[in-house]
Amino acid sequence: MANLKAPSVQLQPVSVTRKMAASLPGLRARAEEKGLKIHHLGAGYPHPEVTDPRRFLEHKAAYFAHVAEREGLNDPQAVPEYLRESYSYTDTLGPVGARRAFAHAYGSDWGVQIDPGRLIPTVGATGGIHLACSLFEHAGQPLAYITDAPTYAGFTARSDLCQHAQIYSVEMDEEGAKPELLRAQIARARDDGRFVPFYYTIPDGHNPAGFSFSARRREEILDVVRDAGVLILEDAPYVYISFAAPSARPRPFLAMAPEQTIHLFTGSKIGFPGPRVGFLYSEAELEIEGGKAVRFSDLALTEAAAGILFQNPEALWGFDAMLHDEAFQPMPSMWPLADAKLAVYRENRTIMLERLQANLGSHRDRFHWTTPEAGFFSVFTFLDGRTRTDEAFIEQLVSEHGVVAIPMHDFYPRDARKRDPMAGLNQLRLSFCFSESTGEERRRDLAEAVDAFCAAALAG
Ligand SMILES: Cc1ncc(COP(=O)(O)O)c(C=O)c1O
Repeated sequence: MANLKAPSVQLQPVSVTRKMAASLPGLRARAEEKGLKIHHLGAGYPHPEVTDPRRFLEHKAAYFAHVAEREGLNDPQAVPEYLRESYSYTDTLGPVGARRAFAHAYGSDWGVQIDPGRLIPTVGATGGIHLACSLFEHAGQPLAYITDAPTYAGFTARSDLCQHAQIYSVEMDEEGAKPELLRAQIARARDDGRFVPFYYTIPDGHNPAGFSFSARRREEILDVVRDAGVLILEDAPYVYISFAAPSARPRPFLAMAPEQTIHLFTGSKIGFPGPRVGFLYSEAELEIEGGKAVRFSDLALTEAAAGILFQNPEALWGFDAMLHDEAFQPMPSMWPLADAKLAVYRENRTIMLERLQANLGSHRDRFHWTTPEAGFFSVFTFLDGRTRTDEAFIEQLVSEHGVVAIPMHDFYPRDARKRDPMAGLNQLRLSFCFSESTGEERRRDLAEAVDAFCAAALAG
Protein backbone atom coordinates (compact mmCIF):
# COMPACT_ATOMS: atom_id res chain seq x y z
CA MET A 1 0.00 0.00 0.00
CA ALA A 2 1.37 3.43 -0.94
CA ASN A 3 2.21 5.59 2.06
CA LEU A 4 1.71 8.90 0.30
CA LYS A 5 -1.87 10.08 0.36
CA ALA A 6 -3.48 12.29 -2.30
CA PRO A 7 -7.18 11.86 -1.60
CA SER A 8 -8.34 14.48 -4.10
CA VAL A 9 -6.41 13.02 -7.05
CA GLN A 10 -8.55 11.01 -9.45
CA LEU A 11 -7.40 8.27 -11.79
CA GLN A 12 -8.55 9.39 -15.23
CA PRO A 13 -10.17 6.98 -17.67
CA VAL A 14 -7.93 5.69 -20.48
CA SER A 15 -8.92 7.10 -23.87
CA VAL A 16 -10.47 4.88 -26.53
CA THR A 17 -7.53 5.22 -28.88
CA ARG A 18 -5.02 4.41 -26.10
CA LYS A 19 -7.13 1.39 -25.14
CA MET A 20 -7.12 0.21 -28.74
CA ALA A 21 -3.38 0.75 -29.07
CA ALA A 22 -2.80 -1.31 -25.90
CA SER A 23 -4.94 -4.25 -26.96
CA LEU A 24 -3.76 -4.27 -30.55
CA PRO A 25 -0.55 -6.34 -30.26
CA GLY A 26 -2.44 -9.30 -28.69
CA LEU A 27 -5.27 -9.13 -31.23
CA ARG A 28 -2.82 -8.70 -34.07
CA ALA A 29 -0.93 -11.83 -32.94
CA ARG A 30 -4.16 -13.83 -32.90
CA ALA A 31 -5.07 -12.61 -36.40
CA GLU A 32 -1.60 -13.34 -37.72
CA GLU A 33 -1.68 -16.86 -36.24
CA LYS A 34 -4.65 -17.44 -38.51
CA GLY A 35 -2.67 -16.10 -41.46
CA LEU A 36 -4.80 -12.94 -41.67
CA LYS A 37 -3.38 -9.69 -42.96
CA ILE A 38 -3.86 -6.69 -40.65
CA HIS A 39 -5.94 -3.92 -42.20
CA HIS A 40 -5.59 -0.41 -40.83
CA LEU A 41 -8.79 1.57 -40.66
CA GLY A 42 -8.19 2.74 -37.12
CA ALA A 43 -5.21 5.03 -36.79
CA GLY A 44 -5.82 8.76 -37.15
CA TYR A 45 -2.21 9.61 -37.99
CA PRO A 46 -0.92 11.51 -41.01
CA HIS A 47 0.20 9.14 -43.77
CA PRO A 48 3.95 8.26 -43.91
CA GLU A 49 3.92 9.04 -47.63
CA VAL A 50 3.27 12.72 -46.89
CA THR A 51 5.35 13.03 -43.74
CA ASP A 52 8.78 12.15 -45.12
CA PRO A 53 10.73 15.18 -43.82
CA ARG A 54 13.78 14.90 -46.07
CA ARG A 55 12.77 17.40 -48.76
CA PHE A 56 11.56 19.78 -46.11
CA LEU A 57 14.90 19.53 -44.28
CA GLU A 58 16.76 20.40 -47.48
CA HIS A 59 14.51 23.38 -48.07
CA LYS A 60 14.87 24.46 -44.44
CA ALA A 61 18.68 24.35 -44.67
CA ALA A 62 18.59 26.42 -47.86
CA TYR A 63 16.20 28.92 -46.28
CA PHE A 64 18.36 29.24 -43.17
CA ALA A 65 21.43 29.85 -45.37
CA HIS A 66 19.43 32.52 -47.18
CA VAL A 67 18.40 34.14 -43.87
CA ALA A 68 22.02 34.14 -42.66
CA GLU A 69 23.15 35.69 -45.93
CA ARG A 70 20.41 38.33 -45.70
CA GLU A 71 21.83 39.35 -42.34
CA GLY A 72 25.02 40.25 -44.19
CA LEU A 73 27.43 39.35 -41.38
CA ASN A 74 30.99 40.22 -42.27
CA ASP A 75 32.62 38.09 -39.60
CA PRO A 76 32.42 34.43 -40.76
CA GLN A 77 32.70 33.33 -37.10
CA ALA A 78 29.64 35.34 -36.00
CA VAL A 79 26.53 33.33 -35.08
CA PRO A 80 23.61 34.31 -37.33
CA GLU A 81 20.63 35.77 -35.51
CA TYR A 82 18.18 33.01 -36.59
CA LEU A 83 20.55 30.37 -35.18
CA ARG A 84 21.14 32.19 -31.94
CA GLU A 85 17.40 32.68 -31.51
CA SER A 86 16.64 29.06 -32.43
CA TYR A 87 18.64 27.78 -29.48
CA SER A 88 17.91 30.52 -26.94
CA TYR A 89 15.07 31.43 -24.64
CA THR A 90 12.87 33.63 -26.79
CA ASP A 91 9.79 35.68 -26.06
CA THR A 92 6.64 33.65 -25.30
CA LEU A 93 5.31 34.80 -28.68
CA GLY A 94 8.29 33.15 -30.37
CA PRO A 95 10.10 34.47 -33.48
CA VAL A 96 8.07 37.14 -35.23
CA GLY A 97 8.97 35.91 -38.73
CA ALA A 98 6.95 32.70 -38.44
CA ARG A 99 3.94 34.58 -37.09
CA ARG A 100 4.13 37.18 -39.87
CA ALA A 101 4.46 34.56 -42.60
CA PHE A 102 1.59 32.54 -41.12
CA ALA A 103 -0.67 35.60 -40.66
CA HIS A 104 -0.06 36.56 -44.29
CA ALA A 105 -0.83 33.16 -45.86
CA TYR A 106 -3.57 31.94 -43.50
CA GLY A 107 -5.25 35.34 -43.48
CA SER A 108 -5.45 35.50 -47.25
CA ASP A 109 -6.61 31.86 -47.54
CA TRP A 110 -9.55 32.45 -45.22
CA GLY A 111 -10.27 36.12 -45.93
CA VAL A 112 -9.42 37.48 -42.52
CA GLN A 113 -6.91 40.05 -41.35
CA ILE A 114 -4.68 38.29 -38.81
CA ASP A 115 -2.66 40.37 -36.37
CA PRO A 116 0.69 38.57 -35.81
CA GLY A 117 0.85 40.22 -32.38
CA ARG A 118 -2.16 38.20 -31.27
CA LEU A 119 -0.91 34.83 -32.51
CA ILE A 120 0.01 32.74 -29.48
CA PRO A 121 2.26 29.77 -30.28
CA THR A 122 0.98 26.51 -28.82
CA VAL A 123 2.21 22.94 -28.62
CA GLY A 124 0.00 21.76 -31.48
CA ALA A 125 -3.77 22.03 -31.26
CA THR A 126 -3.54 19.93 -28.10
CA GLY A 127 -1.60 22.77 -26.50
CA GLY A 128 -4.25 25.22 -27.72
CA ILE A 129 -7.04 23.18 -26.11
CA HIS A 130 -5.05 23.08 -22.89
CA LEU A 131 -4.38 26.81 -22.96
CA ALA A 132 -8.03 27.73 -23.51
CA CYS A 133 -9.23 25.38 -20.75
CA SER A 134 -6.63 26.26 -18.17
CA LEU A 135 -7.25 29.99 -18.58
CA PHE A 136 -10.82 29.57 -17.32
CA GLU A 137 -10.09 26.95 -14.70
CA HIS A 138 -7.94 28.89 -12.20
CA ALA A 139 -10.79 30.74 -10.52
CA GLY A 140 -12.07 27.40 -9.25
CA GLN A 141 -15.70 28.16 -10.05
CA PRO A 142 -17.83 25.33 -11.47
CA LEU A 143 -17.43 25.30 -15.25
CA ALA A 144 -19.38 23.82 -18.13
CA TYR A 145 -17.62 22.96 -21.36
CA ILE A 146 -20.13 22.66 -24.17
CA THR A 147 -19.16 20.31 -26.98
CA ASP A 148 -20.59 17.95 -29.57
CA ALA A 149 -21.79 14.41 -29.00
CA PRO A 150 -19.56 12.72 -30.16
CA THR A 151 -16.45 14.86 -29.68
CA TYR A 152 -12.66 14.68 -30.00
CA ALA A 153 -11.24 12.27 -27.39
CA GLY A 154 -8.32 14.63 -26.69
CA PHE A 155 -10.78 17.32 -25.61
CA THR A 156 -12.67 14.96 -23.31
CA ALA A 157 -9.40 13.77 -21.80
CA ARG A 158 -8.27 17.37 -21.16
CA SER A 159 -11.55 18.49 -19.67
CA ASP A 160 -11.64 15.41 -17.40
CA LEU A 161 -8.47 16.70 -15.75
CA CYS A 162 -10.43 19.56 -14.22
CA GLN A 163 -12.55 18.26 -11.39
CA HIS A 164 -14.78 21.32 -11.30
CA ALA A 165 -15.54 21.28 -15.03
CA GLN A 166 -18.26 19.19 -16.61
CA ILE A 167 -19.10 18.56 -20.23
CA TYR A 168 -22.58 19.45 -21.46
CA SER A 169 -22.85 17.89 -24.87
CA VAL A 170 -24.99 18.63 -27.90
CA GLU A 171 -26.23 16.03 -30.38
CA MET A 172 -25.65 16.65 -34.08
CA ASP A 173 -27.56 16.01 -37.28
CA GLU A 174 -26.05 15.84 -40.77
CA GLU A 175 -25.47 19.64 -40.82
CA GLY A 176 -23.75 19.99 -37.46
CA ALA A 177 -24.58 20.57 -33.80
CA LYS A 178 -28.29 21.25 -33.30
CA PRO A 179 -28.72 24.94 -32.46
CA GLU A 180 -31.75 24.50 -30.22
CA LEU A 181 -29.89 21.87 -28.16
CA LEU A 182 -26.83 24.12 -27.98
CA ARG A 183 -28.99 26.91 -26.60
CA ALA A 184 -30.67 24.54 -24.15
CA GLN A 185 -27.39 23.08 -22.87
CA ILE A 186 -25.91 26.54 -22.25
CA ALA A 187 -29.05 27.46 -20.30
CA ARG A 188 -29.04 24.19 -18.37
CA ALA A 189 -25.38 24.57 -17.40
CA ARG A 190 -26.07 28.09 -16.15
CA ASP A 191 -29.11 26.90 -14.21
CA ASP A 192 -26.78 24.36 -12.60
CA GLY A 193 -24.62 27.25 -11.41
CA ARG A 194 -21.81 26.75 -13.91
CA PHE A 195 -19.87 29.34 -15.88
CA VAL A 196 -19.87 28.57 -19.62
CA PRO A 197 -16.70 29.88 -21.30
CA PHE A 198 -16.97 28.26 -24.72
CA TYR A 199 -18.44 25.71 -27.07
CA TYR A 200 -15.66 23.43 -28.41
CA THR A 201 -16.08 22.00 -31.89
CA ILE A 202 -14.30 20.81 -35.04
CA PRO A 203 -16.53 22.18 -37.81
CA ASP A 204 -14.30 20.99 -40.68
CA GLY A 205 -13.64 17.27 -41.03
CA HIS A 206 -15.06 16.60 -37.56
CA ASN A 207 -13.08 14.02 -35.61
CA PRO A 208 -14.69 11.61 -34.94
CA ALA A 209 -18.01 12.41 -36.65
CA GLY A 210 -16.61 12.33 -40.21
CA PHE A 211 -18.37 15.32 -41.78
CA SER A 212 -18.23 19.14 -41.91
CA PHE A 213 -20.79 21.59 -40.59
CA SER A 214 -22.84 23.31 -43.31
CA ALA A 215 -22.39 27.06 -43.84
CA ARG A 216 -26.01 27.62 -42.81
CA ARG A 217 -25.54 25.69 -39.55
CA ARG A 218 -22.43 27.70 -38.74
CA GLU A 219 -24.54 30.88 -39.00
CA GLU A 220 -27.19 29.39 -36.73
CA ILE A 221 -24.59 28.32 -34.18
CA LEU A 222 -23.07 31.80 -34.24
CA ASP A 223 -26.48 33.33 -33.54
CA VAL A 224 -26.84 31.11 -30.49
CA VAL A 225 -23.42 31.79 -29.00
CA ARG A 226 -23.66 35.54 -29.70
CA ASP A 227 -27.03 35.69 -27.96
CA ALA A 228 -25.71 33.68 -25.05
CA GLY A 229 -22.35 35.45 -24.71
CA VAL A 230 -20.29 32.29 -25.18
CA LEU A 231 -17.13 31.87 -27.27
CA ILE A 232 -16.51 29.19 -29.89
CA LEU A 233 -13.33 27.18 -29.43
CA GLU A 234 -12.71 26.17 -33.03
CA ASP A 235 -10.27 23.29 -33.47
CA ALA A 236 -9.20 23.37 -37.11
CA PRO A 237 -6.66 20.61 -37.88
CA TYR A 238 -8.43 19.59 -41.10
CA VAL A 239 -9.35 22.92 -42.77
CA TYR A 240 -6.75 22.23 -45.44
CA ILE A 241 -7.44 18.49 -45.65
CA SER A 242 -10.45 19.52 -47.69
CA PHE A 243 -12.08 17.61 -50.53
CA ALA A 244 -14.68 20.25 -51.39
CA ALA A 245 -14.36 22.47 -54.46
CA PRO A 246 -12.81 25.83 -53.48
CA SER A 247 -16.13 27.64 -54.03
CA ALA A 248 -17.93 25.12 -51.79
CA ARG A 249 -15.57 25.33 -48.83
CA PRO A 250 -17.44 26.66 -45.82
CA ARG A 251 -15.73 29.50 -43.96
CA PRO A 252 -14.33 28.72 -40.55
CA PHE A 253 -15.77 30.55 -37.53
CA LEU A 254 -12.48 32.46 -37.44
CA ALA A 255 -13.41 34.20 -40.70
CA MET A 256 -17.09 34.59 -39.82
CA ALA A 257 -16.64 36.09 -36.36
CA PRO A 258 -13.07 36.46 -35.08
CA GLU A 259 -14.38 38.40 -32.07
CA GLN A 260 -16.49 35.40 -31.02
CA THR A 261 -13.92 32.71 -31.74
CA ILE A 262 -10.81 31.17 -30.23
CA HIS A 263 -9.26 29.54 -33.27
CA LEU A 264 -6.72 26.73 -33.01
CA PHE A 265 -4.36 26.16 -35.92
CA THR A 266 -1.97 23.20 -35.99
CA GLY A 267 0.93 22.41 -38.29
CA SER A 268 0.46 18.68 -37.62
CA LYS A 269 -1.62 17.82 -40.67
CA ILE A 270 -0.50 20.41 -43.23
CA GLY A 271 3.14 20.07 -42.17
CA PHE A 272 4.47 17.54 -39.65
CA PRO A 273 3.14 16.51 -36.24
CA GLY A 274 6.59 16.06 -34.64
CA PRO A 275 7.68 19.72 -34.33
CA ARG A 276 4.42 20.47 -32.43
CA VAL A 277 3.74 23.82 -34.10
CA GLY A 278 0.40 25.47 -33.46
CA PHE A 279 -1.19 28.87 -32.91
CA LEU A 280 -4.12 30.12 -30.90
CA TYR A 281 -5.80 33.21 -32.39
CA SER A 282 -8.66 35.28 -31.09
CA GLU A 283 -9.97 38.82 -31.37
CA ALA A 284 -12.39 38.29 -28.50
CA GLU A 285 -12.57 40.70 -25.61
CA LEU A 286 -13.67 39.55 -22.18
CA GLU A 287 -15.04 41.50 -19.28
CA ILE A 288 -13.10 40.25 -16.28
CA GLU A 289 -12.92 40.97 -12.55
CA GLY A 290 -13.80 44.57 -11.70
CA GLY A 291 -15.66 45.04 -15.03
CA LYS A 292 -12.41 45.50 -16.94
CA ALA A 293 -12.39 44.67 -20.68
CA VAL A 294 -9.31 42.68 -21.75
CA ARG A 295 -8.22 41.02 -24.94
CA PHE A 296 -8.48 37.25 -24.84
CA SER A 297 -5.10 37.10 -26.57
CA ASP A 298 -3.51 39.05 -23.69
CA LEU A 299 -4.93 36.60 -21.17
CA ALA A 300 -3.76 33.68 -23.31
CA LEU A 301 -0.28 35.15 -23.57
CA THR A 302 0.06 35.47 -19.79
CA GLU A 303 -1.28 31.94 -19.42
CA ALA A 304 1.18 30.62 -22.02
CA ALA A 305 4.05 32.46 -20.39
CA ALA A 306 3.29 30.79 -17.07
CA GLY A 307 2.46 27.41 -18.60
CA ILE A 308 5.11 26.67 -21.19
CA LEU A 309 7.09 29.91 -21.12
CA PHE A 310 8.63 29.30 -24.54
CA GLN A 311 7.70 27.44 -27.65
CA ASN A 312 10.54 25.63 -29.39
CA PRO A 313 11.98 28.53 -31.46
CA GLU A 314 13.78 26.22 -33.87
CA ALA A 315 10.48 24.53 -34.74
CA LEU A 316 8.92 27.93 -35.41
CA TRP A 317 11.85 28.95 -37.58
CA GLY A 318 11.34 25.68 -39.45
CA PHE A 319 7.68 26.58 -39.90
CA ASP A 320 8.78 29.96 -41.23
CA ALA A 321 10.92 28.10 -43.78
CA MET A 322 7.89 26.00 -44.77
CA LEU A 323 5.96 29.20 -45.45
CA HIS A 324 8.57 30.47 -47.91
CA ASP A 325 8.83 29.16 -51.45
CA GLU A 326 11.88 27.89 -53.34
CA ALA A 327 12.88 31.50 -54.11
CA PHE A 328 12.49 32.28 -50.35
CA GLN A 329 9.49 34.51 -50.98
CA PRO A 330 6.65 34.43 -48.43
CA MET A 331 3.92 32.13 -49.72
CA PRO A 332 0.66 33.98 -50.41
CA SER A 333 -1.31 30.83 -49.55
CA MET A 334 -0.91 27.53 -47.71
CA TRP A 335 -2.92 25.61 -50.29
CA PRO A 336 0.19 24.54 -52.24
CA LEU A 337 1.41 22.82 -49.05
CA ALA A 338 -1.97 21.19 -48.65
CA ASP A 339 -2.11 20.04 -52.26
CA ALA A 340 0.92 17.80 -51.77
CA LYS A 341 -0.84 16.03 -48.88
CA LEU A 342 -4.24 16.09 -50.51
CA ALA A 343 -3.06 14.05 -53.46
CA VAL A 344 -2.74 11.05 -51.12
CA TYR A 345 -5.74 11.75 -48.88
CA ARG A 346 -8.07 12.49 -51.81
CA GLU A 347 -7.07 9.24 -53.47
CA ASN A 348 -7.52 7.29 -50.22
CA ARG A 349 -10.91 8.84 -49.59
CA THR A 350 -12.04 7.96 -53.11
CA ILE A 351 -10.85 4.37 -52.67
CA MET A 352 -12.71 4.04 -49.37
CA LEU A 353 -15.95 5.54 -50.65
CA GLU A 354 -15.82 3.56 -53.92
CA ARG A 355 -15.16 0.24 -52.19
CA LEU A 356 -17.91 0.88 -49.63
CA GLN A 357 -20.30 1.68 -52.45
CA ALA A 358 -19.23 -1.31 -54.55
CA ASN A 359 -19.57 -3.77 -51.67
CA LEU A 360 -22.44 -2.34 -49.69
CA GLY A 361 -24.23 0.07 -52.03
CA SER A 362 -27.06 -2.41 -52.56
CA HIS A 363 -27.52 -2.73 -48.78
CA ARG A 364 -28.22 0.89 -47.94
CA ASP A 365 -31.08 -0.26 -45.73
CA ARG A 366 -28.53 -2.00 -43.48
CA PHE A 367 -25.57 0.36 -43.54
CA HIS A 368 -24.86 4.08 -43.65
CA TRP A 369 -21.55 5.89 -43.96
CA THR A 370 -20.68 9.57 -43.99
CA THR A 371 -19.07 11.26 -47.01
CA PRO A 372 -16.41 13.48 -45.46
CA GLU A 373 -15.83 16.85 -47.15
CA ALA A 374 -12.66 17.21 -45.09
CA GLY A 375 -10.50 15.29 -42.65
CA PHE A 376 -9.49 11.69 -42.20
CA PHE A 377 -12.64 9.79 -41.26
CA SER A 378 -15.97 8.35 -42.29
CA VAL A 379 -18.42 7.16 -39.67
CA PHE A 380 -20.02 3.83 -40.47
CA THR A 381 -23.42 2.96 -38.97
CA PHE A 382 -25.14 -0.42 -38.74
CA LEU A 383 -28.84 0.24 -39.24
CA ASP A 384 -30.10 -3.27 -38.41
CA GLY A 385 -30.93 -2.40 -34.81
CA ARG A 386 -29.03 -5.35 -33.38
CA THR A 387 -25.30 -4.97 -34.20
CA ARG A 388 -23.42 -3.64 -31.15
CA THR A 389 -19.96 -2.25 -31.83
CA ASP A 390 -18.83 -3.13 -28.31
CA GLU A 391 -15.49 -4.48 -27.16
CA ALA A 392 -16.35 -8.06 -28.15
CA PHE A 393 -17.29 -6.84 -31.65
CA ILE A 394 -14.02 -4.97 -32.06
CA GLU A 395 -12.00 -7.94 -30.84
CA GLN A 396 -13.73 -10.19 -33.30
CA LEU A 397 -13.26 -7.70 -36.13
CA VAL A 398 -9.50 -7.84 -35.57
CA SER A 399 -9.06 -11.50 -34.71
CA GLU A 400 -11.49 -12.91 -37.33
CA HIS A 401 -11.07 -10.39 -40.15
CA GLY A 402 -7.80 -8.61 -39.39
CA VAL A 403 -9.60 -5.25 -39.53
CA VAL A 404 -8.80 -2.47 -37.06
CA ALA A 405 -11.50 0.19 -36.67
CA ILE A 406 -12.43 2.41 -33.73
CA PRO A 407 -15.75 2.06 -31.89
CA MET A 408 -17.71 5.33 -31.60
CA HIS A 409 -19.36 4.82 -28.21
CA ASP A 410 -16.42 6.11 -26.17
CA PHE A 411 -16.32 9.33 -28.19
CA TYR A 412 -19.68 10.28 -26.71
CA PRO A 413 -19.25 12.39 -23.58
CA ARG A 414 -20.58 10.92 -20.34
CA ASP A 415 -23.77 13.00 -20.30
CA ALA A 416 -24.63 11.92 -23.86
CA ARG A 417 -24.22 8.26 -22.88
CA LYS A 418 -26.46 8.85 -19.90
CA ARG A 419 -29.15 10.37 -22.12
CA ASP A 420 -28.79 7.49 -24.54
CA PRO A 421 -26.90 4.44 -23.23
CA MET A 422 -26.80 3.12 -26.81
CA ALA A 423 -25.15 6.27 -28.23
CA GLY A 424 -22.67 5.30 -30.94
CA LEU A 425 -22.99 1.61 -30.10
CA ASN A 426 -23.96 0.89 -33.69
CA GLN A 427 -21.11 2.93 -35.17
CA LEU A 428 -17.43 2.70 -36.07
CA ARG A 429 -14.93 5.36 -37.09
CA LEU A 430 -13.17 4.30 -40.29
CA SER A 431 -10.04 6.22 -41.11
CA PHE A 432 -8.51 6.44 -44.57
CA CYS A 433 -5.47 8.48 -43.62
CA PHE A 434 -2.99 5.84 -42.57
CA SER A 435 -1.33 2.69 -43.86
CA GLU A 436 2.17 1.29 -43.56
CA SER A 437 2.65 1.10 -47.32
CA THR A 438 3.13 3.76 -49.96
CA GLY A 439 2.27 4.33 -53.64
CA GLU A 440 0.60 1.49 -55.52
CA GLU A 441 0.88 -0.80 -52.50
CA ARG A 442 -0.95 1.81 -50.38
CA ARG A 443 -3.81 1.90 -52.88
CA ARG A 444 -4.02 -1.89 -52.94
CA ASP A 445 -3.79 -2.19 -49.15
CA LEU A 446 -6.54 0.34 -48.55
CA ALA A 447 -8.86 -1.27 -51.12
CA GLU A 448 -8.21 -4.67 -49.50
CA ALA A 449 -8.82 -3.19 -46.05
CA VAL A 450 -12.19 -1.74 -47.05
CA ASP A 451 -13.16 -4.96 -48.84
CA ALA A 452 -12.25 -6.98 -45.73
CA PHE A 453 -14.26 -4.59 -43.58
CA CYS A 454 -17.29 -4.85 -45.89
CA ALA A 455 -17.08 -8.65 -45.84
CA ALA A 456 -17.08 -8.51 -42.03
CA ALA A 457 -20.05 -6.10 -42.01
CA LEU A 458 -22.03 -8.34 -44.35
CA ALA A 459 -21.18 -11.42 -42.28
CA GLY A 460 -22.83 -9.57 -39.34
C1 LIG B 1 -9.80 17.32 -33.65
C2 LIG B 1 -8.35 17.22 -33.31
N1 LIG B 1 -7.80 18.11 -32.47
C3 LIG B 1 -6.50 18.04 -32.15
C4 LIG B 1 -5.68 17.06 -32.64
C5 LIG B 1 -4.24 17.01 -32.22
O1 LIG B 1 -3.52 17.89 -32.95
P1 LIG B 1 -2.02 18.31 -32.60
O2 LIG B 1 -1.11 17.30 -33.19
O3 LIG B 1 -1.91 19.62 -33.26
O4 LIG B 1 -1.89 18.41 -31.12
C6 LIG B 1 -6.20 16.12 -33.53
C7 LIG B 1 -5.33 15.06 -34.06
O5 LIG B 1 -5.71 14.02 -34.42
C8 LIG B 1 -7.57 16.19 -33.86
O6 LIG B 1 -8.14 15.31 -34.68
